Amino acid sequence: MEAKFHNFLLLAISLLATQLLSSSSTYTIKKFHFNVEWKNITRLCHSKLVLTVNGKYPGPTIDVNEGDNVHVTVTNKVAMNTTIHWHGVRQLRSAWADGPAYITQCPIGAGKAYTYKFSVVDQRGTLWWHAHFSWQRASIYGAFIIHPRTPFPFSLPIYPANVPIIFGEWWNEDVEIVESEMMLYGGGPQISDAYTFNGLPGPLYPCSDKDIFIQTVIPGKSYLLRLINAALNDELFFAVANHTLTVVEIDGVYTKPFATTAIMIAPGQTTNVLLTADQLPGPTGIFTMAARPYLTSVFHFNNSTTIAFLKYQTNPKSNHPPIPPYPIPQNLPNLEDTLFATNFLNSLKSLGSNKFPCKVPQKIDKQVITTISLNLQDCSSNQTCRGFKQNRFFASMNNQSFVRPWISLLESHYHNQTLRSSPGFPERPPFAFNYTGVDPFTENMSPSFGTRVLRLRYGERLEIVLQDTNFLNPENHPIHVHGHNFFVVGRGFGNFDAGRDPVRYNLVDPPERNTVAVPVGGWAAIRLVADNPGVWFVHCHLEEHTSWGLAMGFVVESGKEASQRLLPPPTDLPPC
Ligand code: C2O
Ligand code: CU
Repeated sequence: MEAKFHNFLLLAISLLATQLLSSSSTYTIKKFHFNVEWKNITRLCHSKLVLTVNGKYPGPTIDVNEGDNVHVTVTNKVAMNTTIHWHGVRQLRSAWADGPAYITQCPIGAGKAYTYKFSVVDQRGTLWWHAHFSWQRASIYGAFIIHPRTPFPFSLPIYPANVPIIFGEWWNEDVEIVESEMMLYGGGPQISDAYTFNGLPGPLYPCSDKDIFIQTVIPGKSYLLRLINAALNDELFFAVANHTLTVVEIDGVYTKPFATTAIMIAPGQTTNVLLTADQLPGPTGIFTMAARPYLTSVFHFNNSTTIAFLKYQTNPKSNHPPIPPYPIPQNLPNLEDTLFATNFLNSLKSLGSNKFPCKVPQKIDKQVITTISLNLQDCSSNQTCRGFKQNRFFASMNNQSFVRPWISLLESHYHNQTLRSSPGFPERPPFAFNYTGVDPFTENMSPSFGTRVLRLRYGERLEIVLQDTNFLNPENHPIHVHGHNFFVVGRGFGNFDAGRDPVRYNLVDPPERNTVAVPVGGWAAIRLVADNPGVWFVHCHLEEHTSWGLAMGFVVESGKEASQRLLPPPTDLPPC
């Protein structure tokens, strides 16, 4: 009965019969059960135990309606710690349910459970969830879909099919080993063996002819593809042969629609595109979809391409399988196509309609300028190091390499401990230099280590300028902010110029999102209103960089009104 009703709701929404929904004022509680467990999975002829939720890889999709209360009980059935993060969900006043280990909670221990309780308010579209403990998100991830309570604001009738396409990475090796070797020797991680579409590498990889994602479409219909980049360490380009994509939403926020031949999507980001099956299907009715990395790093990386297929349902009886050769779509950008990435990102604008206004702060109360860097530290004499020149890699913001404590920062803050007395996160780089121009070897590349957080008053309007540096290697860094959406008011190459650049900010319809790809050798300026009390993690969504310390945190104090206060901790919050 419950399931039937749920299906009915989904159908009703898909058919845009949303009047029925928007008139009802009762919000429902949606309950989910996530068991974190091992599952034997085979890809590329390598079988291994993979960490999963409910034995699924990728994990189950969470489908909820805007305004719902969501309860997810996570039961840890493995002999290691875990947590789950609802990436992009605002978690208004419910910071306890955000999930990053040692920031908002201590991990869920072996055999223990914790119920994440939160509501999805004033958000709609595609987000996702993933483990937020060590590198577990390599396989513990899934789509988080919020169905809107008012009709989709674009005129195209969309065929009622939900098509999440989650990009990921597959390692033949155990990811736990990949991670621990990287941390032990301080070198770059072993690269993945494949990129995947919904966990499937596709036929361009060895021994992968059966693991192919195929999406069937009806000719003439339009579909909403929900693209999610869950890869650990790689920005990706995505394209569908012969088809244009119309971008309508990023990170769960509507955009001004625009047509493009491909997209760039950084880890942590989501992009909803409309695709119309409007091509002549030819004898097979099959078109290739492809993703490959957008490369800005000089380090060893996986430069392979994953493909999947769009299959026109031309005749219900014809069941033509994809046949080799599998040409890569010509509209897929090349690995180093920074020009494409830049033009694409510059085309993203908030919808800014009456119903969905763009609430970018016109004025700010505080500006933080922070470098984002890779660093090197000398190898101690009793160690073997595999980073550049036999040293050890680290990463930092304003030269602070973030160290995760063995306590929950949120609990500590709530109980008024330690956070107050410790020095705050520096609001300017410790020393100024030509960030994107220096010969790195003339600069001191070793960071300081610590757990410094920025303190903000409730409602403070914050601007953060994220400045890439040339230490070791300039790179595109996807910086993610927990608990808040922000507006990307400016981006550019080279060094941020406090005199020249702010006058060119877009304060009309800048894109609103939760993860910004900071241009390689450049900067991005973001603005947000600190309207969510709690402690929030800010970090690079390239997992290797987070492991090396490219992160910070900020505290938002509770406001004066009851509705501006952090709720008390849930009773089942895991102990440290
Ligand atoms: Cu998607 Cu802190 O993460
Ligand atoms: Cu990074």
